[in-house]
Amino acid sequence: MRLSVVAVALLLLPLVAVLASAEQFDFFYLVQQWPGSFCDTQQGCCFPDTGKPAADFGIHGLWPNYAKCRSAGERELVGEMGLVDMGLRRKKCWPEYCNDGNPLSLWEIKDLVKQLDQSWPTLSCKSGKSMEFWSYEWRKHGTCSDLDQHGYFAAALALKARYNLTAILADAGIVPSDDDTYFLSSISDAIAEGTGFKANLECNRDASGETQLFQVYQCVDRSGKRLIDCPLPMQGKCRDRVKLPPF
Ligand SMILES: *[C@@H]1O[C@H](CO)[C@@H](O)[C@H](O)[C@H]1NC(C)=O
Repeated sequence: MRLSVVAVALLLLPLVAVLASAEQFDFFYLVQQWPGSFCDTQQGCCFPDTGKPAADFGIHGLWPNYAKCRSAGERELVGEMGLVDMGLRRKKCWPEYCNDGNPLSLWEIKDLVKQLDQSWPTLSCKSGKSMEFWSYEWRKHGTCSDLDQHGYFAAALALKARYNLTAILADAGIVPSDDDTYFLSSISDAIAEGTGFKANLECNRDASGETQLFQVYQCVDRSGKRLIDCPLPMQGKCRDRVKLPPF
């Protein structure tokens, strides 16, 4: 009896995979990281084999997101098949890994690689190869968008190029410093004014436990082309005053 339930579940798995790849989402987060804050932690960082990145925000990813978290149980088909016990019971706030049969091909994004090296460099110590970072982001997030490989990376690059966060912050007097701290509200205000849209902010801690601005989450419509005001607040672990460490 138990066996046959498992067998039916296995037979239907491809169907679940198809449903997952057609998954709807509501908006994107364009996530950019400040390299000084990535590196200035207990873990540290490594530069990619293309050399030390510029002292500029770098893309982390373009992430499809839901406007409202869903509990996996709402998907009745999955529930009936007992697959909830395979770890799907948790809340889902975004879709991920929507199509493992579509790995990133360097060929598809060849004309973007130079720009990607500059704007989307890896700082992880795992491999030093930014292509591995891009492949991971494509597999986890990009496959859940409606964009093809070239469209996905081109969309993120175009948005980053259009709104230079480093310059927007500098215009408001918010520049990297070992000593100064900045009001979180002045950072939010500068980004809202400089881009025309409200973003979310995430902080991390440096090696001595001080709070620093780590990532900016700009919200983007489903086409991947236009910024929107972020529809959701975020618990970004920031304090009222934060640092922006030099890189
Ligand atoms: C963004 O602005 C900063 C500060 O003005 C500048 O150094 C940097 O080159 C700009 N980045 C790009 C990609 O233009």
